[in-house]
Amino acid sequence: MTKTHPLRVVVVDHTAELGGAEVALLRLLRALDRENLDVRVLLFNDGPLADELRAAHVPVAILPLTKDVTGVDRVSAGRASLANLSRGLRLAPFMVSLVRLLRISRPDLVVTTSLKSDLIGGLAARVARRRLVWHLHDRIADDYLPSSLVRLMRVASRRLPRLVIANSQATASTVPVDCLVVPPPIDNDWVLDADVVAARPAPGEHPVVGLVGRISPTKGQVEFIHAAVLVAQKHPGTVFRVIGAPLFGAEDYAEQVRAEQQAAEDAGTLQPGQVEWIGFVSDPRTQIDALDVLVHASPVPEPFGQVVVEAMVRGVPLVATRAGGAVEIVTGDDGDEELGILVTPGDAPALAEAICAVLDDYPKAQARALAARTSAARRFDATDTAARVSQAWQRVVSRQTRAFRTDRTAG
Ligand code: GLC
Repeated sequence: MTKTHPLRVVVVDHTAELGGAEVALLRLLRALDRENLDVRVLLFNDGPLADELRAAHVPVAILPLTKDVTGVDRVSAGRASLANLSRGLRLAPFMVSLVRLLRISRPDLVVTTSLKSDLIGGLAARVARRRLVWHLHDRIADDYLPSSLVRLMRVASRRLPRLVIANSQATASTVPVDCLVVPPPIDNDWVLDADVVAARPAPGEHPVVGLVGRISPTKGQVEFIHAAVLVAQKHPGTVFRVIGAPLFGAEDYAEQVRAEQQAAEDAGTLQPGQVEWIGFVSDPRTQIDALDVLVHASPVPEPFGQVVVEAMVRGVPLVATRAGGAVEIVTGDDGDEELGILVTPGDAPALAEAICAVLDDYPKAQARALAARTSAARRFDATDTAARVSQAWQRVVSRQTRAFRTDRTAG
């Protein structure tokens, strides 16, 4: 039966930090037709995401859960330990409050957008007898998550949600249920005019090569430093920028990246100051625009790779690893057009070679970047994406979910 009131949706996320999934959520909510949708967001902590949502006039509620639980990293979460047992015990009263809240507010649909909210919010939605959609931003795979969490998520994916929306085929192919694949959108105001891209000057004596993203082993900052050493042999004036900060407990990895840089400086293969650490920037447009090459160095398959789309719509030449969602983004519609240079994951010499290829033949790289801009602006259009997601939500509420099918050929 078609509902007469606007569809009431509660989106649940465990974190208010601005990780990739949260940026994707913000972009989606900003583009949704909220005349016909009553969307609210429930977070387990206050923070930057809540501020951005309020600024976008999306109602936000915070049901606080101790940071001890929301902030635990994925590796520790997967361990059977005393700390996890005590976290579990502290979760019980929170679950009771969450179920009560869902029972009282009676949304038509609960949408969860992070692994922790998929499990915690998913269970609560089930107990409160609310329909549930998982919006999956992570590959549920052993090379990405602890195997105990992979097993749990796979079992839960069959039992909890009515529908799983995945951010890529790569993500969809890691869960044992049919998914609807909807890539995250890009805000329309991110797309640079083609004229501006065409007028971008060729790199000078000091080309700028950057990696944008939170500092994490899954993003490959160490591989980036290794590649930087090789690029610097051929283009000694190159500046390498690490743009982003460690999130979700990756401080040790950040130390490791700095140690690699220090070792290269000690060996004289990188000059002091040649690697610049920019830190977290909330709107990375200026940083991206200042790059001659944007590097996506993820050594393990990335679920999607939003920054790849960001580089494309800004018309910045791109070098990315051939794995996960990035392959889907960088491959154009006809299936074999490459809108950036793809290299083998974890292969620093290949990364360096691709960066040099951009610097050595800039007109070619720029032509590719122009094609990338047009393709990405069309394929990741925010209005289209928001329409696809809200249609899917409507269909779940009116129980028409049989038509969702995953293409299981993707890796
Ligand atoms: C997560 C994924 C990333 C993706 C983003 C948006 O942060 O790790 O690959 O781009 O979500 O879907």
